Amino acid sequence: MAYHLLFALIFVTNAYCVKAVSVGELESRIDAVEKQCAAQNVQFKEENQKLRNELEQLRATVMKQDAQLQDEIKDLRQVAVEKIKHIGAGQKRGKRFVIDENETVAFHATLTGGRAIQHLHINQTIIFNNVMLNIGGAYHSQHGLFVANVKGIYIFSVSIMGLYGGTDSTMVFIMKNGKEVAAAIADGRGGTHDQGSTTVVLQLVPGDEVWVSVQRHDDTAIWTDSLDSFMGCLITYT
Ligand SMILES: *[C@@H]1O[C@H](CO)[C@@H](O)[C@H](O)[C@H]1NC(C)=O
Ligand SMILES: *[C@@H]1O[C@H](CO)[C@@H](O)[C@H](O)[C@H]1NC(C)=O
Repeated sequence: MAYHLLFALIFVTNAYCVKAVSVGELESRIDAVEKQCAAQNVQFKEENQKLRNELEQLRATVMKQDAQLQDEIKDLRQVAVEKIKHIGAGQKRGKRFVIDENETVAFHATLTGGRAIQHLHINQTIIFNNVMLNIGGAYHSQHGLFVANVKGIYIFSVSIMGLYGGTDSTMVFIMKNGKEVAAAIADGRGGTHDQGSTTVVLQLVPGDEVWVSVQRHDDTAIWTDSLDSFMGCLITYT
């Protein structure tokens, strides 16, 4: 019994001794672990800081790219606005080179039937009856009137052959809405063959009327047989 007690005491003492040694070791180990932890903490903090820096850099890059994109969008918007303006201006300016047959206006008519027209009086419209061309249908051969259907700049030309034996030199005007705009005179008196012509450029709006009429000299005459012609065409839209 006593032996057993002694053995137990030795065991406990031993155990205690082992434990006492272990505490010292443990403390140093804890120290080491703490140091390691502290070192790792420092490392972690450093890495954390590094990540933060990277994140900051990325954020800065993204913001820079975003700013660049915003600038590009602004530039593109400006380009688009300019293009729209340009297109608008182009439409306003009109087409200089007319390519679509239905977008242009052009006519040419001459005088046929008989050899001459005599006794032309002041204010009489010369009706060029023989329509050679009438794109856009603005020339009306029943009345001799050109009625603009498109707003634009037009060129008109008239040519007449004065009839000799007439009572006076023949004088005709290109008229715009009843106003004289350009004159031609052909003096057929004395047996001469005299051709008179004039050309004019007019700015017209739809409904404007252009025709040729006798003015100034009353009771005159002209040769027909295609010696007289009236033409006009659209140069450009306005
Ligand atoms: C012009 O108008 C006529 C009649 O409306 C049509 O038949 C023709 O196809 C048109 N031409 C063009 C080039 O659009
Ligand atoms: C010609 O027409 C104008 C305008 O209608 C008129 O004032 C003028 O008296 C006319 N002249 C003659 C000779 O008929």
